[in-house]
Amino acid sequence: MADTILNRRIVMAARPSGMPAAENFRLEEVAEPRQPPQGEVLLKTLFFSLDPYMRGRMDAGPSYAQALEPGGVMEGGSVCEVLASQSADFSPGDIVLAGTGWQTHPRASARGLRKIDPSLAPVSTALGILGMPGMTAYTGLLNIGTPKPGETLVVAAASGAVGSAVGQIGRIKGCRVVGIAGGEEKTRYIRDELGFDVALDHRAADFAARLKTACPDGIDIYFENVGGAVWDLVRPLLNNFARVPVCGLIAQYNGVAGGGMGSAVALRSVLVKRLRIQGFIVSDFAAQREDFLRDMGGWVSSGQVKYREDVVEGLENAVPAFIGLLQGHNFGKLLVRP
Ligand SMILES: NC(=O)c1ccc[n+]([C@@H]2O[C@H](COP(=O)([O-])OP(=O)(O)OC[C@H]3O[C@@H](n4cnc5c(N)ncnc54)[C@H](OP(=O)(O)O)[C@@H]3O)[C@@H](O)[C@H]2O)c1
Repeated sequence: MADTILNRRIVMAARPSGMPAAENFRLEEVAEPRQPPQGEVLLKTLFFSLDPYMRGRMDAGPSYAQALEPGGVMEGGSVCEVLASQSADFSPGDIVLAGTGWQTHPRASARGLRKIDPSLAPVSTALGILGMPGMTAYTGLLNIGTPKPGETLVVAAASGAVGSAVGQIGRIKGCRVVGIAGGEEKTRYIRDELGFDVALDHRAADFAARLKTACPDGIDIYFENVGGAVWDLVRPLLNNFARVPVCGLIAQYNGVAGGGMGSAVALRSVLVKRLRIQGFIVSDFAAQREDFLRDMGGWVSSGQVKYREDVVEGLENAVPAFIGLLQGHNFGKLLVRP
């Protein structure tokens, strides 16, 4: 057997301006030693995650996390099998949650890894419903949205990894849930399979009128995943003391100007309606991980929370799939099996 193994990986070739394109990425092949140095492991990636935040990492400038530099491997969560280990904590065959990003056979420090028990749930769920997106939904909705029975919860990007979980948790907490998604297939799914009370297509010509009709008692919680046009329509429907967890603004990630979240009119409604608009990053609630795993694990095994994964085969297909994610082409939690 050769002393090395071929690691194929995708790096950022150049920073994008606006929507990323194929030339912003480059596929590289590097040889990794089969015997990792002390304290490290050699991994085989089973799945890696594609997430909207990765677009933000490609930009220079200050954000909540450090920017990726040109030539750097595209970052992200991964589920991997340990092939070789120089750490007492891991053995070949272990399945681990890692942060090794878009590569097939990465080497990693053992310190950043967490073991996954494959007997509890399909291992891919550690990147989705039982992982970062599921925890984002759980912590953002419960801590900031503070749902109460009978309240109206509106959620954007409702068929996606975060939004689909938000709506289903909202139903469990007794809310009337209105989901907003792009297209007939996604709206049918959130209504008929996930049990949302109402599903609206944000691309429909009469979307504004339908949103108003769907919320006869106003909106108590708006879970913001998108920004832009939807926010402009939601804001006038918010009730006094409504809560708005600001989770993501995907409509603005490619430099497109969004709605008037900070405009004078919006600010006036914050005062007059005593709105609570709060941004958050899932890591703010890291201490609630055990609560999340207990509750979400229970809901998933009882069937109260369902999830959908959109699995793309092949490392090279990560680039078009990522660009598609930024345009709503994915349907469910987007994963790559490299
Ligand atoms: N704060 C945090 O810690 C945190 C953590 C994870 C995720 N997030 C944010 O949560 C949001 C959802 O993430 P996710 O991983 O669950 O992704 P996702 O919903 O699975 O996929 C993104 C969805 O966004 C919608 N979308 C894309 N471009 C859009 C545009 N220009 N205008 C309107 N909608 C657009 C599309 O859905 P439709 O086809 O239905 O429009 C697309 O399928 C993102 O904004 C993400 O950045 C935040």
